[in-house]
Amino acid sequence: MHDSLLLFGATGDLAQRYLFPSLLHLLRDRLLPDNFRVIAIARSEHDDTSFRTWLRERLGDDYEAAQLDELLRRVQYVPVDLSDADSMAAALSRFADRPTVSYLSTPPNLFASACRGLKAAGLLETPSRLVLEKPIGHDLASAQEIDATLKSALDESRIFRIDHYLGKAPVQNLLALRLGNTLFEATWERRWIESVDIIVAETAGVDGREGYYADYGALRDMVQNHMLQLLALIAMEPPAAMDTDSIREEKKKVLRALRPMSAADADADSVRGRYTAGVVDGQAAKGFNHGGHEDVETFVGLRAWIDNWRWAGVPFRLVTGKRMPSRTTEVVVTFKPVTHWLFGPGERKRARANQLRVRLQPEETIELGLMGSLAASEWAANELQPMSLDLAMLPPKRRIAYERLMIDALKGDQTLFVRDDEVEAAWRWIDSVSAAWREAGTPVRDYPAGSWGPAEAQPFLPRTLTTHNGRKS
Ligand code: BG6
Repeated sequence: MHDSLLLFGATGDLAQRYLFPSLLHLLRDRLLPDNFRVIAIARSEHDDTSFRTWLRERLGDDYEAAQLDELLRRVQYVPVDLSDADSMAAALSRFADRPTVSYLSTPPNLFASACRGLKAAGLLETPSRLVLEKPIGHDLASAQEIDATLKSALDESRIFRIDHYLGKAPVQNLLALRLGNTLFEATWERRWIESVDIIVAETAGVDGREGYYADYGALRDMVQNHMLQLLALIAMEPPAAMDTDSIREEKKKVLRALRPMSAADADADSVRGRYTAGVVDGQAAKGFNHGGHEDVETFVGLRAWIDNWRWAGVPFRLVTGKRMPSRTTEVVVTFKPVTHWLFGPGERKRARANQLRVRLQPEETIELGLMGSLAASEWAANELQPMSLDLAMLPPKRRIAYERLMIDALKGDQTLFVRDDEVEAAWRWIDSVSAAWREAGTPVRDYPAGSWGPAEAQPFLPRTLTTHNGRKS
């Protein structure tokens, strides 16, 4: 396990909210090597002492002093301008004394120059590794450009592209459910499945990240990575083995089978929205400040089609939005109706197709919707009613997804990281969507904060979502 972490973007939002807290938890639980050290790197002119004070102020309220001290005594700070490879090399080469993991928690436009600086500093020599935060680039062309620079400095086996959703235990459970149960193995395909819904709804707004968001929008911020990774895990063929490349190979094949969106389909297969002022969780919420970037969505609904034998004709609806009525990440698999209905016409009206609903956040629940007659009297076995098998997990306090991913990067396990060809396949589809929007002039429609998106989003939302989780818009 490597014991030296260079953390770029150390004063950024992600580092404060997740990366340093993750390190703190890992140190507390003695999961890091004895000589573990963190070189915190950003542009700000701190020295070790002032950075430690700054970090203590940000983390202090949530942790015991002893835990914080344990982290802070391992942290050094180096101010560096990532756009200047020579000065990077001069400031950082002294840390090439042992194998390192360099973690770029920075905007993607700095990846290429940072990589050149790290190379010049001797920090990318075998067996050192490089971790990159999503999104990798802004489209396929920029992702390929970044990738070419990375490949000129180190090989794929030492490049770790983070998608933190892959580090979430309930996301890994999707694979366990799918591949560990005969019930699903037998029915996981177009003959038995009507549709699949993947929803990532957030109550949070863009808040403070407007600059970044204006260039990305929900399509690039959430769909290109988290949602397509969820789709790939749900739709991929069973891998030959549960090892790094078998899984990544199968995910890539699904992403490559996504049918590019055409301008002619943009109207039927997509909807974009942007929140205006409203009320979320009983609190007034301001509208998204697009700062003149009119063409940025904070909500997107898409109908994706996977053109392969398993999924031909099955719509995968992807919905993500900010400032929704509730925080909900869930997957809903709706099965086809039974082949032949034997019961009466009254029951037929009540009949619901079987549905598997897996809630990933904030609660972890699994519901299986069935039809049965348990609610009827003894002499009415034909009176069918919808019933639900509910498994509500009281999960152990979950670790931050980044804890798991940092350990894996330090150990060198790439299973939960995204491979170059997956990123490319995902961008290829996303580029088709944004080109279709451009050509078709797909509008960004307003929706009030605290609603389930614009009215046009209704066909993209499963009924269970809007009825269980707050009012309809
Ligand atoms: C990030 C996006 O990758 O994921 C954010 O940039 C989003 O916009 C976040 O809020 C959601 O992650 P989680 O773990 O809170 O569901």
